[in-house]
Amino acid sequence: MRRPILAANWKMQKTIAEAETFAAAFLPLVAKADAVDIVLAPPATALHALGQALAGSNVALASQNVNPNEKGAFTGELSPDMIADVGCRYAIVGHSERRTLYGESSEFVADKAAAVLGRDIRPIICVGESDDEREAGQTFAVIGEQLQVSLAKIPKDRAADIVVAYEPIWAIGTGKTATPEMAQEVHAMIRERLRVMFAADGDAIRVQYGGSVKPDNVAELMAQADIDGALVGGASLEAESFSQIVNFDGGRA
Ligand code: PGA
Repeated sequence: MRRPILAANWKMQKTIAEAETFAAAFLPLVAKADAVDIVLAPPATALHALGQALAGSNVALASQNVNPNEKGAFTGELSPDMIADVGCRYAIVGHSERRTLYGESSEFVADKAAAVLGRDIRPIICVGESDDEREAGQTFAVIGEQLQVSLAKIPKDRAADIVVAYEPIWAIGTGKTATPEMAQEVHAMIRERLRVMFAADGDAIRVQYGGSVKPDNVAELMAQADIDGALVGGASLEAESFSQIVNFDGGRA
């Protein structure tokens, strides 16, 4: 049984004060959610302060990005050591906004994923097809290729420490959620690929769905056999709304 994982990706939103206000409101609302993993990924400027606010709680800190190199001339970047230093236990890598806006390749994503694992930070490795790719019937081919390359450097014995996020680009921030059946179809294909790549160890890898997840659609998505969690943008910005997503099965979670 894979433990559900609900993660918030705040993208370029929230100051330090806003992140602290969120934590103060959010932590009491999810204090009883002990059967799920809860993750918050603030912008880099708020990592340290939010990490302090979450200390001792059941909520883990994540970075939205990382550079795979240890140190050196990489202006504007943060190393795995640096995000470990502020308390990150997860790092989102290969988000579609980074792939499309900043030209990040699956090879680069593979380096990031392997680098953070080396620091005992769990990578949340994002994959997803565009509208055009789906229209052209290329969804499985695109996702298959992204998985093959982005996960190529994960040692077999660390499979359980990675998370995959399936985020169809056409559903991100658009209000257009994939139907649970559409999402499940791709998740089942991802599960098959993970079994091919990692054999039985692949069954431990959690696969999140992302793309316009909200309090009112999370339960039906989570009810799908191969959906193990959610990566949430817009609906994670308010404590009330993200807490409802975390408590998706009515608080029993
Ligand atoms: P959204 O973003 O929930 O606002 O669609 C999801 C994501 O990009 O991770």
